[in-house]
Amino acid sequence: MTPGRDAHGEVRLPAIFLVGFMGAGKSSVGRAVSRRLGWPFHDLDERIQRRVGRSIEEIFRESGEGEFRRAEHAELRALLTDLGSSGAVVALGGGTFAQKENLELLKQARTIFLHADVEELLRRCEADEVDRPLLRDGDHFRRLYESRKASYLGASLHIETGGKDVETVVAEIQRWVETSP
Ligand code: S3P
Repeated sequence: MTPGRDAHGEVRLPAIFLVGFMGAGKSSVGRAVSRRLGWPFHDLDERIQRRVGRSIEEIFRESGEGEFRRAEHAELRALLTDLGSSGAVVALGGGTFAQKENLELLKQARTIFLHADVEELLRRCEADEVDRPLLRDGDHFRRLYESRKASYLGASLHIETGGKDVETVVAEIQRWVETSP
């Protein structure tokens, strides 16, 4: 696909970046979208774990959140270089799009916010097997969500995922990808 241009005439790269809070479905939707579009899939958390040789949980526990954020920023920068102008689907971590220095890197990128009600997100996270260091208790989860919501709303496209299956969300993303610059 030829890169399009955004409202300011700047070149927009084709890769799409899924953003949203923990439990939003960034990885599962991302994998399905990548199959549908025939574009490679990248999960930023998986890349960080491979690069550092430790799990996200270990990085948080042994080195703290600050170290995790530094690794996350470095990995995002490396990924953007690797992607160049090729099409790809990227699942970011729940906090990636809430960090100023990452927003700067993603200014020209096509970003998609997967939205769901915070109580639904909490239910999904409590039900799955993923070890999330920032999933401490309901109150902390809700406060963190509120503190990040404004950042997520800065994404290029917002999709409501509540009550929808993955294929419905994938179809909405595909339509947008094929029609938006
Ligand atoms: C985080 C979310 C996690 C992971 C890390 C920090 C966050 O990703 O990046 O535990 O700050 O919300 P998921 O959103 O994929 O769970």
